[in-house]
Amino acid sequence: MRLTPSRHPRALIVVFAALGLGACGKVSPAGTSPGTAGAGAAGATGAAGATAGDAAAGTTGAAGEALDAGTLPDVGQVTYYKDVQPILQAHCQTCHVAGGIAPFALGSYDDAKPVAALMAAATAQHIMPPWMPAPGCGDFRDARVISNDQIATINAWSAQGAPAGNPADAPPPAGPDAGVSLGTPGATLDPGADYHPNDLLTDDYHCTLIDPGLTTAQDLVGFDVHPGSTATVHHVLLFAVSKDNLAAVQAKDAAEAGAGWTCFGGTGVDATPTIGGWVPGSGATAFPKPTGIHLDAGTQIVMQIHYNLLTTKHVTDRTTADLYYAPAPIKAIDRAAIAAVANTTFLIPANTKKTVSADLPIKNNFDLWGVVPHMHLHGTEIKVQINHADGTSDCAVDVPAWNFHWQQFYYYQKATKVVAGDTIHLECTFDNLQADEPVINNMQMTSGPLTWGEKTTDEMCLNYLYFTLTNPLGP
Ligand code: HEC
Repeated sequence: MRLTPSRHPRALIVVFAALGLGACGKVSPAGTSPGTAGAGAAGATGAAGATAGDAAAGTTGAAGEALDAGTLPDVGQVTYYKDVQPILQAHCQTCHVAGGIAPFALGSYDDAKPVAALMAAATAQHIMPPWMPAPGCGDFRDARVISNDQIATINAWSAQGAPAGNPADAPPPAGPDAGVSLGTPGATLDPGADYHPNDLLTDDYHCTLIDPGLTTAQDLVGFDVHPGSTATVHHVLLFAVSKDNLAAVQAKDAAEAGAGWTCFGGTGVDATPTIGGWVPGSGATAFPKPTGIHLDAGTQIVMQIHYNLLTTKHVTDRTTADLYYAPAPIKAIDRAAIAAVANTTFLIPANTKKTVSADLPIKNNFDLWGVVPHMHLHGTEIKVQINHADGTSDCAVDVPAWNFHWQQFYYYQKATKVVAGDTIHLECTFDNLQADEPVINNMQMTSGPLTWGEKTTDEMCLNYLYFTLTNPLGP
């Protein structure tokens, strides 16, 4: 980790974790991680360094205006089987199935009819399907977006009394897998025992070292985290521990009684880069083809689980994670790493709204494949942009109505080129007004100064970047 001295006195943290490039000798794990940006600090590729500053509040964005009957296209007479079921099948049933993450199924006419008006409102207001990025900023794969015609169809159907129509008009049944298809796991990370989060804490961060049994090198191409105690598991981060770092991590584990150890941000040991994560709202992750994260033989994994115990206590957890490997080794040029840009030094005074920012100057060309913007409960908008030396910029992601419960990796249809001289600019807006304070356990929080911190009631202004270096051997 190398920090570039910043002009700004209250500067910066960037954790630039590079992974899988060790063989080429360009990555030299060095230094310590001064921040807790959630990514274990590994060798910098020479690009790390950021300045953080404050910007005026009031940045706006629009995730598509809510639609009312007057602005919806006229779709005429519609029926469930002919018009509505195809939409539900393609865009709703991934979550709205028995045992899915949504509170009710939308698998049949009988499921859908009683909630027709709710569906009309939820789609017109762009609440459903849930998709946070604003249109026009970042061309994301797997975007959960439906067209105005489809929204109009659901609204017309509800307004017309939710008619069934003719079952013969129904679309063919959906395929067996509507979600991410990753094949068979190469390994399943299982801590081996249940964990009882510490009820004396509001937030317990627990790390466990798990051996995935890598007798040969593998390229990680996806993972699927299965949170055990869904009421309290608030995030899961996976970190790679190389053979060289194993003793240090084992010492950390041994120093604390019981299985695993308490850890904030990273693993507590340097050069243990992030290789994946799960936050509320994210499902299985498949890294964009042809990329993957290279794991040398003997690599072990630390699974860090953040338990949010503000409202639920006395839980038992057994979170597991499936790792998926590439069937054949991926090319060195496609080996990816995850880095973070963050402002860890902000202060949002009580009873204010404020936008803060961070800038990461880029020194090595890379392909940006995906982003994960992250804030906590007071965040209202988060934006990432790539500023070019010539004054132009590309919008990387804009979440204009931040919702803590819907977070995920957002991957692009096509990687974006980022070149030396560019700056990754991150902007986070927080609402710390008393009237807007989050309600926890039926009690509204009291507005106080907000700063970076690991607790759910602290804040973060953070964005992860999933990238491949354009020239891994290059300057
Ligand atoms: C990625 C998962 C996911 C998808 C896709 C999804 N939903 Fe949902 N839906 C949820 C979850 C979770 C909830 C409950 C929590 C919430 O309201 O955010 C929900 C809640 C709802 C509600 C209740 C909202 C309210 O105001 O109480 C409606 C209606 C709904 N969904 C309709 C739909 C329709 C229609 C679609 C497809 C066009 C859809 N959903 C797609 C996950 C999903």
